[in-house]
Amino acid sequence: MPSRAAPTALTLGVLLQLLLVLSLLAGCIPSPCLEVIPSTAFRCTGQNISGVPAEIPNTTLDLDLSFNSLKLLSSNYFSSVPKLQFLDLSRCHIHTIEDNSFVDLYNLSTLILTANSLQHLGLAAFHGLTSLKKLVLVETSISSLSDLPIGHLNTLQELNLGHNNIASLKLPKYFANLTSLRHLSFSSNNITYISKGDLDALRETNRLNLTLVLSLNNIKYIQSGSFAKIHLGELILRSSFENLNAMHSSLQGLAGLQVNRLIVGEFTNILKITAFQNGLLSGLCQVQMQEFVLMCFREFDNDTDTLFDCIGNVTTIRLVDLNLETLSEVPMFSQVKHLEWKKCKFQELPAEKLSLFKELRVLRITKSKDLNGFEQKFGSLTHLEVVDLSENRLSFLTCCSPKFPRSPNLKHLNLSFNSDISLTGEFANLRNLLYLDLQHTKLIHHGTYPVFLLLQKLIYLDISYTKTHVMSHLIFHGLNSLQVLKMAGNSFENNTLTNNFENVRRLRILDISSCKLVWVDQSTFNALSELKELIISNNKLLTFDPVTYKPLQALTALDFSNNQMSFLSDSALEILPDSLVLLDISHNLFECSCTHLNFLKWVKEKQDLLRNKHSMICHTPAYMKNMSLSNFDMSSCHPNPTTVACSVTVLLAAGVFLFLIYKYYFQLYYSLVLLSGCKHSAERGDIYDAFVIHSSKDQEWVMKELVEPLEEGKPPFQLCLYFRDFLPGVPIVTNIIQEGFLSSRNVIAVISADFLESKWCSFEFDIARSWQLVEGKAGIIMIILGEVDKTLLRQRLGLSRYLRRNTYLEWKNKEISRHIFWRQLTSVLLEGKKWNHEEIKLM
Ligand SMILES: *[C@@H]1O[C@H](CO)[C@@H](O)[C@H](O)[C@H]1NC(C)=O
Ligand SMILES: *[C@@H]1O[C@H](CO)[C@@H](O)[C@H](O)[C@H]1NC(C)=O
Ligand SMILES: *[C@@H]1O[C@H](CO)[C@@H](O)[C@H](O)[C@H]1NC(C)=O
Ligand SMILES: *[C@@H]1O[C@H](CO)[C@@H](O)[C@H](O)[C@H]1NC(C)=O
Ligand SMILES: *[C@@H]1O[C@H](CO)[C@@H](O)[C@H](O)[C@H]1NC(C)=O
Ligand SMILES: *[C@@H]1O[C@H](CO)[C@@H](O)[C@H](O)[C@H]1NC(C)=O
Ligand SMILES: *[C@@H]1O[C@H](CO)[C@@H](O)[C@H](O)[C@H]1NC(C)=O
Ligand SMILES: *[C@@H]1O[C@H](CO)[C@@H](O)[C@H](O)[C@H]1NC(C)=O
Ligand SMILES: *[C@@H]1O[C@H](CO)[C@@H](O)[C@H](O)[C@H]1NC(C)=O
Ligand SMILES: *[C@@H]1O[C@H](CO)[C@@H](O)[C@H](O)[C@H]1NC(C)=O
Ligand SMILES: *[C@@H]1O[C@H](CO)[C@@H](O)[C@H](O)[C@H]1NC(C)=O
Repeated sequence: MPSRAAPTALTLGVLLQLLLVLSLLAGCIPSPCLEVIPSTAFRCTGQNISGVPAEIPNTTLDLDLSFNSLKLLSSNYFSSVPKLQFLDLSRCHIHTIEDNSFVDLYNLSTLILTANSLQHLGLAAFHGLTSLKKLVLVETSISSLSDLPIGHLNTLQELNLGHNNIASLKLPKYFANLTSLRHLSFSSNNITYISKGDLDALRETNRLNLTLVLSLNNIKYIQSGSFAKIHLGELILRSSFENLNAMHSSLQGLAGLQVNRLIVGEFTNILKITAFQNGLLSGLCQVQMQEFVLMCFREFDNDTDTLFDCIGNVTTIRLVDLNLETLSEVPMFSQVKHLEWKKCKFQELPAEKLSLFKELRVLRITKSKDLNGFEQKFGSLTHLEVVDLSENRLSFLTCCSPKFPRSPNLKHLNLSFNSDISLTGEFANLRNLLYLDLQHTKLIHHGTYPVFLLLQKLIYLDISYTKTHVMSHLIFHGLNSLQVLKMAGNSFENNTLTNNFENVRRLRILDISSCKLVWVDQSTFNALSELKELIISNNKLLTFDPVTYKPLQALTALDFSNNQMSFLSDSALEILPDSLVLLDISHNLFECSCTHLNFLKWVKEKQDLLRNKHSMICHTPAYMKNMSLSNFDMSSCHPNPTTVACSVTVLLAAGVFLFLIYKYYFQLYYSLVLLSGCKHSAERGDIYDAFVIHSSKDQEWVMKELVEPLEEGKPPFQLCLYFRDFLPGVPIVTNIIQEGFLSSRNVIAVISADFLESKWCSFEFDIARSWQLVEGKAGIIMIILGEVDKTLLRQRLGLSRYLRRNTYLEWKNKEISRHIFWRQLTSVLLEGKKWNHEEIKLM
């Protein structure tokens, strides 16, 4: 194998290196265009190219050629990219556009020619652009509209002519052709006078929704009647006038205009006019408008009585960034329904004055850094539905009913991002409230009282980051209709959730992130069977207990990120409802070990469900730290085949070994004792002349015919009998060997039919024979007792009966035979007998 694989690997390596070199070389060849979307969008900016690069495929829809040097566009210039929808030619040094340059671009929708000093435009320069919707001619040195050959572009919706030298707003007749036009900008031009008849082209068509931008011009005068019977969607006049007087008189010239939204004012950074003067807006009495926006006036006369003079019946008024400190006069019977102040200079909320706008539906006063007082009460505003007082610095007591005593239709109340509000639970007059937003405003209340008790219709409550410390479940009492509860960044008693949500059974969305939670009781979510979205991220939860989260069977999104969980248990994975489509468990302290193999497998399978997968990172063990969970190597948990084979072999061997030990226990034990016996036998004196092995059935014969005559005869022999001489409490085999063989010079085997049948006797006999071989002891005396099966005898005794050292005796009842038997037996026993003194005396 290796010998064949090596050349292949080598070739592959060389090929790879070649490829690398080639790709590096390719990188060196300048490729001017970046493929933003394959074969569809290309960006070739700032490459000093002078035409459409040949490499741009004819499938391209979106081409950015800005900051190059095209200079002159000739006919069919873009024929290689006929599908273009978007073409950017900003700052391409184009001075000439010849006829039919764009003629192939039927589908071009946006053409940007910003910052090209166009000197020569052919009459048919823009021919062929049958789909053009947006034409940007900003900063193209255009000074006259009449020369612009765009009259046929009847699909045009947006025409931007900003930053040019256009001095006259006299719209040529072809504008009547541009029936789709929605946005027309003359921002930053040199328009100084607008005369009657200039806008006639607009009057001819019934153009309802055109936005006309005249900002950043230098208008000195608008002739009365210039805008008469003109109907616009929007007219923007920011920093449009030369000075305050020009503004005042020019606004008179708007008489007869019908406009949906009129925006008048300055830009924050370009303040040509800073002071607001009495009567400045008097011209607007002649203008019919739905919405009026006034922006950026730094100085106001003490007397602003005239501010609302001519705008009192406008439906919507937005006043942005006006340094107006007090609200003086409000017209009686005003029709204003929607009033908004943004970045105003009030310090105290002018609730009484504002209450004169009897028709008010929506009131917004926002982003005012100076606004901190809310002492006054609102008067009777029976239509009022929305009050947004967010992002001020409000600080007040007794929220909220006492402030709106007669606004029974109030549905939205936004007091978010203020300083501090004391919540006393007074909502008696606001029982119809549906939305209450108090986020990021410090709420002063003690978390035990049911402050929202009266808001039984409320469906949306945001008390995130309000420094609320929830002491009991009472805080949410009464919120029977609540569907959204956001209370991130607060705290709960003991950092534990218990029965806090048992009253808000209609809840759909619950945000309890960043609440320092360490524990969630198992019954916490029991009432929330309709909950669809749970955000419990950024806490310190160690586990995701299946019992706790099981009641949430309608859940579609769960954010458990940034906690300290190490894995999801099998039962936790089981209780995740089928409806769940979004699960974020990123930034937890995951343990990447084989113990959690099921979880890790599940993570790999559920890539669609999981969010922020790249932030699901192993925390332990240390060597896996910072590794992505989805990179966990499952195979490391399955042992490889060779290991399996080895272990099986070892187990088998061990099994066989144990079996052998079990089977040959005696033999092994015997060998052990034998070996130890070898050492000691020399030390042990022989105390017996013979060890008798016999079948227990022959015991009687042994005692009567063998032991008595031998032990009581002359000379007396000392015999070892297992039932008499063995030490009690010592294993029988030890006894056989130590007391029997080791202590005896001879072994007498009384071989009878019973002996041959007994396994035990055979074993003893076997030991005796091997003992004889090992120790070289004197022989075994075999006494054949009675009738025995000769073949069995031969089989059992084997060769032993023929060994010279062994003695083979047969016991026969005949007297003569017995005599021979005794003579032979005693002579064998006498061999090597050591006499002790007593015995010699007795002789
Ligand atoms: C751009 O290309 C032109 C020729 O097409 C060349 O004369 C000019 O030096 C180039 N400019 C730069 C900055 O490479
Ligand atoms: C685009 O170019 C391919 C060859 O590169 C040509 O076969 C195809 O007809 C061209 N399509 C158009 C619309 O020109
Ligand atoms: C223009 O777009 C239409 C549909 O969007 C398409 O059928 C047509 O082929 C396009 N024309 C060109 C020249 O790409
Ligand atoms: C207005 O459009 C029509 C057809 O759309 C065209 O024939 C006519 O020349 C256009 N008028 C101008 C002034 O371009
Ligand atoms: C603006 O127009 C005035 C005359 O109306 C002219 O004197 C002035 O030079 C023009 N300014 C620019 C920058 O074209
Ligand atoms: C008018 O145009 C503006 C955008 O320019 C758009 O938001 C608004 O919906 C349009 N109104 C009508 C009535 O078409
Ligand atoms: C503003 O009011 C103060 C006193 O209330 C007065 O002295 C001052 O002249 C007024 N300024 C103008 C411009 O009316
Ligand atoms: C506003 O309308 C009311 C009647 O609807 C009228 O009495 C009042 O004069 C109007 N105010 C303005 C400033 O037009
Ligand atoms: C309340 O105002 C804040 C700040 O303007 C805004 O983010 C929030 O969405 C508003 N709340 C509601 C319910 O509209
Ligand atoms: C908070 O802990 C204290 C002491 O550990 C205990 O007495 C009290 O009942 C706990 N409160 C809650 C709401 O579990
Ligand atoms: C794990 O990443 C963090 C920040 O990304 C780094 O500070 C830390 O040393 C990294 N730990 C290991 C073991 O790579």
